[in-house]
Amino acid sequence: MKDLRTIILAAGKGTRMKSVFPKVLHKAAGRPLIDYVVGVARSVGSLKICVVLGHEMKTVQEHLGKDIQAVRQTKPLGTADAVKSARPFLKEYKGDVLILCGDTPLLRKKTIQRLVRKHKKQQADCTFLTTVVYNPAGYGRVLRGPDGRPFAIREHNDAAEAERNIREINVGVYCFKSEVLSAALKKISVNTKKKEYYLTDIIEILFEEGKAITTVETEDPEEGFGVNSRVDLAKAEGILRQRILQEHMLNGVTIEDPLTTYIHADVKIGKDTLIRPLTVIEENVRIGSGCVIGPFARLRPGTKIADDVEIGNFTEVSRTKVGAKTLMKHFSFLGDATIGRQANIGAGTVTANYDGRDKNRTQISDGAFIGSDSILVAPVRIGKNAVTGAGCVVTKNTNVPPGQTVLGVPGKILKVINS
Ligand code: UD1
Ligand code: CA
Repeated sequence: MKDLRTIILAAGKGTRMKSVFPKVLHKAAGRPLIDYVVGVARSVGSLKICVVLGHEMKTVQEHLGKDIQAVRQTKPLGTADAVKSARPFLKEYKGDVLILCGDTPLLRKKTIQRLVRKHKKQQADCTFLTTVVYNPAGYGRVLRGPDGRPFAIREHNDAAEAERNIREINVGVYCFKSEVLSAALKKISVNTKKKEYYLTDIIEILFEEGKAITTVETEDPEEGFGVNSRVDLAKAEGILRQRILQEHMLNGVTIEDPLTTYIHADVKIGKDTLIRPLTVIEENVRIGSGCVIGPFARLRPGTKIADDVEIGNFTEVSRTKVGAKTLMKHFSFLGDATIGRQANIGAGTVTANYDGRDKNRTQISDGAFIGSDSILVAPVRIGKNAVTGAGCVVTKNTNVPPGQTVLGVPGKILKVINS
């Protein structure tokens, strides 16, 4: 969408995290909080994104990369002041602006899409997201006139008794016409109680000017959940985990025990793969179809597993490619390795990939048979259909030719006499 830009507010201090790291870089389901929000903005077609950051600007900016603009809010003077800091981003821009918060990883694409679509369709000046919660304490309440039209958002601290009973709250997601937003921001005065500039005051200002304000309600109050502490982080993680597992199951993956299966965001799994209990699959892992993973398996980032592979119990695979129909059924470690098709990785196989200084690669070619308890000291190469004997230590820089067998400690290549 050409005429949609996004501002993500993330200059809050995040003190309650009690962390030396910026709040929005803390991970839930293997992914930094801010990445979820950026992902939602991009998924609804916002090409340009600006993140408002505070004192931790440099680290977050490094993480986000060059495609995303970052601006600094010098002092956390409130949400309206934060949006004002993004003024250069909106200069001479006449389209719509989506405003999101950097610590809300549970927002769904379809909800934000609904909000943007309604905003555009109705040519509204402002559309904001609301939800009805059981306990609205702490949130801004949505005030509506007798005709049901929203005319203000009242922050909890400023709400009168009757207003406090309102359970429809402001989620903190807005879409504005850029020019309307810029003009109205100038009119927001400081909240005398909190000495902050509230973005939410904009609703009343626009209403009084006769501007078109609409709302979209999400039925899932969890969506606007903001992470403020480690307790919140764990809660967000739990919800994201259920969503991720559900999506895989709906895509044709069998998960025997969702309660003990941990799959991070950014994992792809093919149809008819079976994930057995107590398995951890970290971010950036690809698994083909028809595989069996676990129980008790850990697949770490950068792992790519082709179709019909078995990764059994007490196994760890890291930054490794595994070819189709390869079997690794019992307690083994593969790191920085490339494994061909139809190889057999015997029980207790270990790629000794780290020499104390560098990570080195192991290649195991198609059809290779790695005997139980083999240690492959990388860099090492096992040729096509080659065999390692049980308990063998294949030393550094060994290149086992195709079809040959290596035995013993240190491993010696046994010449096969072709008859
Ligand atoms: C805000 C809304 C409230 C809504 C709630 C939903 C206002 C005044 N209130 O309240 O109506 O129900 O969110 O969660 O907007 N931030 C900055 N700079 C600042 C202050 C905040 O960048 O100076 C960022 C924060 O990092 C955060 C977001 O803005 O991502 C929201 O700020 P927060 O202080 O959490 O607002 P709430 O008090 O929760
Ligand atoms: Ca908040």
